[in-house]
Amino acid sequence: MIEFLAGKSAHNSPTIRRASTASDVALLQKGRYCGIIIPTNTLIEGRLRNADVVTAKPTELELALTNQEIIDRWRHEPAPLLAVLHAIHDRDGFLSDEAIQDIAKGFRIPVADLFGTVTFYHHLSRIPGGKEAPRVCTGPVCCLRGANEILDNLRKDGSTPMPCAGRCDDPTPVLKGDQVLIGETAKSLVATPSPLPPSNPGVAGFEECVFASIREPGRATLEGYRKSGGYEAIETALSELEPDKVITLISESKLAGRGGAGFPTGTKWKAVSDAPGTPKTIVCNADEGEPGCFKDRAIMDYDPHAVIEGMLLAAHATGATRGFVYLRYEYPETLEILERALGEAKKAGLVGKSCLGTQDFELYIRRGAGAYICGEEGSLLNSLEGKHPFPRNRPPYPVTHGFEDLPTVVNNVETLVSTPQIVRRGADWYRGLGVGEHAGTKVISLSGDVQRPGNYEVPIGFSLQTLIHDWAGGPPEGRSVQAVTMAGLSGGFLGGEDLDITLDEPCIRSKGSFLGAGGIMVFDDSRDMVAVAHGAMEFFAHESCGKCFPCRIGTQRITERLAGEAGPGDLTQWTEEVTDIGAVMKATSACGLGVAAPLVSDSLMKYFGSQVARHVKSVKK
Ligand SMILES: Cc1cc2nc3c(=O)[nH]c(=O)nc-3n(C[C@H](O)[C@H](O)[C@H](O)COP(=O)(O)O)c2cc1C
Ligand code: SF4
Repeated sequence: MIEFLAGKSAHNSPTIRRASTASDVALLQKGRYCGIIIPTNTLIEGRLRNADVVTAKPTELELALTNQEIIDRWRHEPAPLLAVLHAIHDRDGFLSDEAIQDIAKGFRIPVADLFGTVTFYHHLSRIPGGKEAPRVCTGPVCCLRGANEILDNLRKDGSTPMPCAGRCDDPTPVLKGDQVLIGETAKSLVATPSPLPPSNPGVAGFEECVFASIREPGRATLEGYRKSGGYEAIETALSELEPDKVITLISESKLAGRGGAGFPTGTKWKAVSDAPGTPKTIVCNADEGEPGCFKDRAIMDYDPHAVIEGMLLAAHATGATRGFVYLRYEYPETLEILERALGEAKKAGLVGKSCLGTQDFELYIRRGAGAYICGEEGSLLNSLEGKHPFPRNRPPYPVTHGFEDLPTVVNNVETLVSTPQIVRRGADWYRGLGVGEHAGTKVISLSGDVQRPGNYEVPIGFSLQTLIHDWAGGPPEGRSVQAVTMAGLSGGFLGGEDLDITLDEPCIRSKGSFLGAGGIMVFDDSRDMVAVAHGAMEFFAHESCGKCFPCRIGTQRITERLAGEAGPGDLTQWTEEVTDIGAVMKATSACGLGVAAPLVSDSLMKYFGSQVARHVKSVKK
């Protein structure tokens, strides 16, 4: 392996040469050129064919390559299509017809299919300059604090709205090129690092797992991570724990998936370990598209090595030899942080061939391109494979037929990051973190009408009221809490007496909702809940992949009724109609989106009947 400098020559053509002198190394360290470690046999006539470390973000060299050269560069890499689309999109600022034709030809995909896939993703622009045009978050929380004004003020620059961009603990985010700008007005937009999770307010007896070391200075670097016990868990596992023992430990901890579905992690790992077929794959689901969820971003921004270590543990437990982090497009800074961490881990022999002296584990980062449905695991796997990102029919499940139809673990960021701590401190310790019978902790992304929004790690079974009022400072002065959402938006609303709940699935499910990925948005008593519900249903209608008719049409029909544009003017009929549409969606939708979306309208009618009645009356007029 040799380190090379790649850049542009005086004639603007790509150049590549060996980094041999001290000044070359200095240039590499300064990030002036892309430092690429490549096996010598891949260097053909000064051109790069296939790099050993291939970054998800285009290098200077890549920006100067032709379509064909980009395709050739990625052709033999795993999951190449997204990478090629991004490389060309980043180079040109949009995807031209010619580019789509070249890619279709290069990968032998029918042009019509590729066109369908490209246009499915929100962030792949087909208009010159499209990548640089500002995209303003108009998620539920940003709408409360002036996002629409920012959108209007940036119209002259070609602004468009985008669904929740996962910065609900900050003023409104605006995605522009590869930067997220944050501001309360269009004039005050500035790039700022994402907020560090606030520590819990010193309540005795509440220990953290996921955030235990996240506030340690330098934790995002390999050195800082190691200082607070980083990579000890995988080292211990490799030297002392057989894969089966790791699985038993994770099962005994009662860790369950933190991405929404709550499937027991140990059971998932065991299924992949037992499944025939190689290579096996670990996918870290970092798509985090659920409105009101921003915990995975905080974890990755401040503790990226913990994500890598969690994936290494999953690989050891299951025998997987390759992994992907599937990262949502709206987190460009996170991409850089993850890539830096991965570079450090590779250099230190923690990831790659014979890493840590024993296992082979290649790890790749792939960027999504803007589609909420790509967080659903089947859709994510199709997206990685370069297919149209529809959810897959289940069974079979990814544990036996995942990436490239081979056994695959798909785990959420928070789930994976919990595992090194469990290996280090034991299953009993983790189980004991919960309240009473409940095991472990959950990161809650709390936002909306509270004084201190942020990511709070709470024991499972913790009181929602204590979280909102004592930890997060309660609603603004003089206001009271009217409603909260659960599971981001997917769990619909809770209101009235049902705000007195504990944060665990049995309690929340008894109210007809679920905790899911842990996004909770708070709405005070000044908010129009029909308008909030309309925005929520509009989101689901926008994000429905369209594979099944009841979800595709049902989300539209309920949106129209919540907008006051359609439906009967009689309250009883209106309620029956909306309930009916929702019931069909719940019974017949192929994935969680279509099943969950009606919880928004059902819970609106359940808790806010008088607001619905006013709304329907106004339709009649
Ligand atoms: C519409 C939809 C969107 C989803 N989005 C995400 C997501 O952004 N991140 C995530 O980890 N899981 C998401 N999931 C859940 C995944 O399908 C899957 O259950 C999860 O990644 C498994 O990891 P876990 O067991 O660690 O939770 C989504 C599910 C649905 C139905
Ligand atoms: S339920 Fe909706 S989002 Fe899910 S597969 Fe069907 S159409 Fe697509």
